[in-house]
Amino acid sequence: MDILLNDSIISREDLTIDPEDRGYQFGDGIYEVVRIYERQLFEWEAHAKRLEYSAKELMISLPVRIEELYQNLLKLIKKSSVSVGYVYIQVTRGTAPRAHGFPENCKPNLIAYAREMARPLMKMKNGVRAVTADDIRWLRVDIKSLNLLGNVLAKQKAIEAKAEEAILIRNGIVTEGSSSNVFAIREGKCFTHPANHYILNGITRQLVLRLLNEIGVAVEESPITKEELFEMDEIFITSTIHEICPVIEIDGVKIGNGAPGVLTGKLQSLFDKLIFPASSIHYSS
Ligand code: PDD
Repeated sequence: MDILLNDSIISREDLTIDPEDRGYQFGDGIYEVVRIYERQLFEWEAHAKRLEYSAKELMISLPVRIEELYQNLLKLIKKSSVSVGYVYIQVTRGTAPRAHGFPENCKPNLIAYAREMARPLMKMKNGVRAVTADDIRWLRVDIKSLNLLGNVLAKQKAIEAKAEEAILIRNGIVTEGSSSNVFAIREGKCFTHPANHYILNGITRQLVLRLLNEIGVAVEESPITKEELFEMDEIFITSTIHEICPVIEIDGVKIGNGAPGVLTGKLQSLFDKLIFPASSIHYSS
């Protein structure tokens, strides 16, 4: 595997990770996951903006300029021969003897790599099951930080229940999924949690909001309760990895008629056209 280390591409075997990298010891870093479709970075500008936001909020200075990072990522994708997949980018505050406060003269470490990964076509077509889980995360999950234990534990709960996603509940309110945003539709109106410090403002979420606006669906960026989840006609989750994925059952209770919803399907087709402007693909494979 090829690794982008700050501004040079090296092979995985040549990469050394320091045990005193603050990413290891404190989770003191940020990351992004960007989709690769046909060797291109999808929604790059939005991901770059969020990376810069996360860095600013944690007072980490990015070791390379965004334009340079973009060019380096394209080189990495080419060298790694990834056609459809994702790129993972991580920036930690740097390496220094362990102490909680920011070390002086600490240089941030950036690594990135690309992996092949197919689109989740069957899940998008058939829908997935979800469970609810307590949202035990810290209160700045708008920052895409490396501190993901709350997400990891919730996802594990879903996996053990043979479900795809855990829908997180904080004080009776649906925030988001363990690695996705949650949308709900009732009587033609769409609800999703507002973009504040209780959720990560997903790039796919932002794109879906644009699509909903374009097709004239009323959107309320306001929280819904856990009870309301079960009264919805349609629910779907969004993320770079899941794209737009219908949720057909939560905690063993069917959502709507227990099949992917019509509006969800419409959004999926519109999303496809953005990925592959030349030819829209079908969920047959
Ligand atoms: N996670 N909320 C959380 C908690 C997430 O971890 C993610 C994505 C999203 C959706 O964001 P986006 O649409 O920008 O991918 C929402 C990535 C994919 C991950 O950690 O793997």
